[in-house]
Amino acid sequence: MAEEIRIETITGAALEPLVPALAQLRIAVFRDWPYLYDGDVGYEARYVRTYLESPSAAVIVAFDGANAVGASTCLPLAEETGNVQAPFQERGWDVRRFFYFGESVLLRAYRGRGIGVAFFDAREAHARRVSDCDYSCFCAVVRPPDHPLRPADAKPLDSFWRRRGYTAYPALICHMTWKDLGEQQETEKRLTFWMKPLTGVPLP
Ligand SMILES: CC(C)(COP(=O)(O)OP(=O)(O)OC[C@H]1O[C@@H](n2cnc3c(N)ncnc32)[C@H](O)[C@@H]1OP(=O)(O)O)[C@@H](O)C(=O)NCCC(=O)NCCS
Repeated sequence: MAEEIRIETITGAALEPLVPALAQLRIAVFRDWPYLYDGDVGYEARYVRTYLESPSAAVIVAFDGANAVGASTCLPLAEETGNVQAPFQERGWDVRRFFYFGESVLLRAYRGRGIGVAFFDAREAHARRVSDCDYSCFCAVVRPPDHPLRPADAKPLDSFWRRRGYTAYPALICHMTWKDLGEQQETEKRLTFWMKPLTGVPLP
């Protein structure tokens, strides 16, 4: 990883001064495929605050000097919203066994030098430190193959995630709503999960 980039695991009130920068990062990065998210600063600032208020949550922040250039979030699934917990509960899985990784956002200029790998390592280390969860998990949006805004050179992150030790659960689905770029109103999106054991247990 480039020497000048500092990766810090930040929790609780220490996140307060970073709220505007983290909100801006999410908006900037999630405008791109496959998220196409037409972000709202007010909503984003409130969203980032959920990580500030959860005692076991953390935001892993990549700093270039004083500037936050990337961030990655995590919190116990038990503290996530009902829509994210729902597919686990439907299978009778105890949500307390899962640590949920929210998202990784990194400005384009900083990609491809190991920061995304460091985000996974730091989140898994945090989950092990603050919980006895058996699994880490995250979800990713599924877009139709013929979506008109899919770039010709779009590269899925599936192999990157597999190399981090994650297994796809395409039938484990949650729904989220947001407004896509160019749309007038929010629409429901389908996201599928990926999972990795944090302890010696087999995958569920
Ligand atoms: C996903 C994302 C955070 C990945 O970040 P990244 O820093 O580019 O990823 P990395 O550089 O850590 O890893 C990319 C590859 O570079 C490799 N790499 C690691 N260290 C490296 C180094 N020092 N130099 C060059 N490459 C390196 C990694 O091993 C990885 O390859 P692998 O999968 O074959 O192992 C970034 O692409 C992003 O913000 N994307 C947009 C938002 C998004 O889609 N987020 C994910 C869902 S929320």
